[in-house]
Amino acid sequence: AFIILFIIDPVLTFTIPILIPPFFIVMKWVGRRLRVLGRQVRRAEVDIVWMAESDIEILPAIKAFAVEGEHRSRYAAAIEKARLLKLKQVGITAFIGPVVALVAAIAAIVILVTGSAQVQDGARSPSEMFAFLFYAALLTRPVGSLADTYGRFQIAKGTLARLEAVFAMRPEPGYDRKRRIERARGAIAIDAVSFAYPGRPAVLTNASLAIAPGETIALTGDNGIGKSTLVNLILRFYQPDQGRITLDGVDISDLQVQDLRRQFGYVPQRPLLAYGSIAENIAFGCPDPDPAAIEKAARLAQAWEFIERLPRGLATEIGDGGVRLSGGQRQRLALARALFRDPPIYIFDEATSMFDLDGETAFIQSCADLLTDRTVIIITHRPASLALADRIIKVTPQGFTVIEQAEEKARR
Ligand SMILES: Nc1ncnc2c1ncn2[C@@H]1O[C@H](COP(=O)(O)OP(=O)(O)OP(=O)(O)O)[C@@H](O)[C@H]1O
Ligand SMILES: [Mg+2]
Repeated sequence: AFIILFIIDPVLTFTIPILIPPFFIVMKWVGRRLRVLGRQVRRAEVDIVWMAESDIEILPAIKAFAVEGEHRSRYAAAIEKARLLKLKQVGITAFIGPVVALVAAIAAIVILVTGSAQVQDGARSPSEMFAFLFYAALLTRPVGSLADTYGRFQIAKGTLARLEAVFAMRPEPGYDRKRRIERARGAIAIDAVSFAYPGRPAVLTNASLAIAPGETIALTGDNGIGKSTLVNLILRFYQPDQGRITLDGVDISDLQVQDLRRQFGYVPQRPLLAYGSIAENIAFGCPDPDPAAIEKAARLAQAWEFIERLPRGLATEIGDGGVRLSGGQRQRLALARALFRDPPIYIFDEATSMFDLDGETAFIQSCADLLTDRTVIIITHRPASLALADRIIKVTPQGFTVIEQAEEKARR
C-alpha cells in the first residue's frame, strides 16, 4: 500500500510521516508505563503466591493465635493490589487502539484537505485522490497491530526483567571441581575463618578449630551465636569470607562439592522429611536399599519401636495424606537417615533435642560403638549428649573456647 501511495503522490506520502514523531512520543510513554506495570504486576503476583504458601505452612499458628481475620484481609489486600495494577495495564493497552485511530483520522483529514485542493487545481483526478485515501486507510490496520505488538512487547520486557534476575543467579560453585574424594579420614580444620551472612554483622571472626579424625566434639553456646552457621560452612552451603576449612588437609572449596557432602551424616536442627514412605526417608536417595540396613539405622536412632507399631511399618507414607509424626519421631527419622549413610563424619545439630530422656540415653548407648571411630560434631545443650564428647567447645563471639577435655572428665 505504501508503494502505491508513493506512486500516486510522493509529496503527500511524505507529509504523512510528519505525524510520526508525536505518535512515537506517545508510544514511548505508553511503552515505559507498560514496562513498569509489567514488572509491578509480576511482583504483586509473586507476593500473592508467597503469602498463600507461607500461610498454608503456618496454618496451625494462625488458628492458635486466632488471627484468621488479619491474614484474610492481608491476603485480600494483596489480591486487590494485583487486580488494580492489572486493570491499569489493560487500560493502557486499550489506550493504544484509540491513539492509532486518532492519528489515522488526522492523517485522513490532512489527505482530504491537501488532496481536495489539488483536485480543484486540476492537478489530480478525483479517482486518484480516492485511491490514495483508500490505500492510506489500508495502512492503518498494520500500523495499529504493530503498535499493539509493541505494547505487548513492553509488558513482556517488564516481566522479563524479573526472570533475568532469576537467570542471572549463578549456580552453586564447586560442582566442577576436579579434586575427588572417596572416603575421608575425617580431619576437619577451621583455619582463621571469618564469615557474615550477606548484609549482616559478622557471625564468626578469625575462628580456628582443629578436629582430629575419630574425635567427638560437642559444640555449645548461646542461641544465635553461630553453631549452625559453622555447620553451614563445613557443608559448604556458604563460603567463608576469610580463612579456609580443610578436610583431611584439602581446602573444601577445591573439592567436588557432592563428594564433600557425601562424607557427612548430617541431621539438621529442623528435621526435613520428604513425601514418601518411612523407608524412602531413611534410605534417602538410595534406589535399592537393603531392608536390613534400614532396620539397623532405625534401631540405632531409636525409631524402630514406633515404626514397628505403625500398621504398614516401613512402608507407611508420611506427610499430608499419610501418618503425621510427632516432633521427636521426625527427629528420630532424620537421625536414622544420617546413620543409614554410614559416612566417616557425623554432624548432629540438636539432633536429640526433642527426644525423651530415656530415648536419648538409649540412643547414646546404642551408638557409642558406632561413633568411636568416626569424627562427630554434636551441637547440643543436653548433658547426656555432652557426656559423649572428647572435647566440649563453647562458641563465643571471640571464637571457640575449649571448656572441657576428655582427660579432665576422666579425672573427675
Ligand atoms: N540464612 C541466614 N541468613 C542470614 N542470617 C542468618 C542466617 N542463618 C542464621 N543467621 C544469623 O546468624 C546468626 C547465627 O545463627 P545460627 O543459626 O548459626 O545460630 P546458632 O548458634 O545455631 O543458634 P541456635 O542455638 O538457636 O540454633 C544469628 O544471628 C542469625 O540471625
Ligand atoms: Mg542452630
